[in-house]
Amino acid sequence: MPRRPPKKPDPALDLSTHLVALGNLTDLFDPATLFPRPAPIELEVGSGKGLFLDTASAARPERNFLGVEIAAGYARLCAARLARRAAANARIIHGDATWLVRGLLPDACLDAIHVYFPDPWWKARHRKRRVLSPTFLRHAGRVLPPGGVVHVWTDVEEYFLESLEVSRATGLFAEPAAVEPRPAEHDLDYRTHFERRTRLAGAPVWRALLTRNDRPASVVRGSGDEADSAGVPARRREAPG
Ligand SMILES: C[S@@+](CC[C@H](N)C(=O)[O-])C[C@H]1O[C@@H](n2cnc3c(N)ncnc32)[C@H](O)[C@@H]1O
Repeated sequence: MPRRPPKKPDPALDLSTHLVALGNLTDLFDPATLFPRPAPIELEVGSGKGLFLDTASAARPERNFLGVEIAAGYARLCAARLARRAAANARIIHGDATWLVRGLLPDACLDAIHVYFPDPWWKARHRKRRVLSPTFLRHAGRVLPPGGVVHVWTDVEEYFLESLEVSRATGLFAEPAAVEPRPAEHDLDYRTHFERRTRLAGAPVWRALLTRNDRPASVVRGSGDEADSAGVPARRREAPG
């Protein structure tokens, strides 16, 4: 589906607390330093317009929520939603999730990872850009402690089945559990904008929960394909914040 460019946030809004540029993070980055209160951290990969980040952080103030979004306009839009209500427990990083998870996050620093409607990259020559790659899922296993979870929701059955296979191949997750949909109680009662759009169009959504087992992850921070999923070093794909 074609995407309209995101609306520009009110220029009077100060985004500096909520918007973080990936390029400004150090190699010893600890995500807990972004939040005023210590709490379990949940990462959302590809936050888009920020519905999940906004609603989840408002509903669960006892947890910290961190989004990572590669498109500058969407990252700013998410930051604006969070800044408008001065959310203390939510932040958005502008940059590439693959690099963040593979290269910067310390071991066992997250409680959950949410991947909702990741770009499917249909063309064969673009497939390597898919976020749910073997490298990403091995590092997801590294940054989650035993019992930590990855939520995977998509409207693309083939990508869904492929990511479950990749997850099994890592050996770091229990057998994927199916997640049942819940009826929406109001117009914005959806996990994300793409879930809303897909369900209102009557199309199916595939959902799974991957739970980290207690096998040690055999990867170290920063390891993996040097040419990342896009075929260029991930560091270079960061746009400035
Ligand atoms: C199809 S949209 C889904 C947005 C949102 N998750 C939803 O369900 O409404 C995919 C989003 O992921 C972002 N994205 C794609 N590749 C990314 C990457 N490597 N790192 C961070 N964000 C990425 C895109 O810019 C886009 O906003």
